[in-house]
Amino acid sequence: MKNIVILISGSGSNMAAIVQAAQQRRWGARFGVQIAAVVSNRADAAGLAWAQDQGIAVAVLDHTTYASRESFDAALQAHLDGYAPALVVLAGFMRILSADFVNHFAGRLINIHPSLLPAFGGLHTHQRAIDMGCQFAGATVHHVTADLDHGPILAQAVVPVLPGDTASALSARVLTQEHLLYPQAIEGWLSRASWV
Ligand code: GAR
Repeated sequence: MKNIVILISGSGSNMAAIVQAAQQRRWGARFGVQIAAVVSNRADAAGLAWAQDQGIAVAVLDHTTYASRESFDAALQAHLDGYAPALVVLAGFMRILSADFVNHFAGRLINIHPSLLPAFGGLHTHQRAIDMGCQFAGATVHHVTADLDHGPILAQAVVPVLPGDTASALSARVLTQEHLLYPQAIEGWLSRASWV
């Protein structure tokens, strides 16, 4: 079995959607992969307990205990390398990754971002889309490159921005689509993988 490792920082709802898709859509039998581990940079990430209940290995690498971004990224890279991951999935992992880390996992490192990239990289995407008067918002799954939120796009989902929308209402509408989009994008990536 080849390994997929998922990185989270918070509630982990995208991670859960991916784990469920892997089970329901038989990624093990079809693509020879398993979700081997879930790693968080925050001990209080709610998704950790859920993943553990599923029998998935979990780990916390607390970035606040490292002296620099580079030393945290090096420790994270070493931990992930223990799984020789075929794919590293960022699912609400709220860290900027250094170029060395990104280059090490180049081609097998993907992210979901809650906007229609290349619009609204960075934070507060939903409020910024509302403030700009956007009529559509959405989410993007993309390859991670050293250029933050600018890697080649794998998949996108579009939702309308409705009159009177708040950032939280729009965020919830987008998140529902993320839960469909991310597993689908990963399945597409797997179906094109060299070993399948
Ligand atoms: C998701 O909306 C994801 O797109 C976003 O964080 C949320 C995580 O939710 N990611 C980013 O903003 C990355 N820059 P989840 O923990 O419930 O999956």
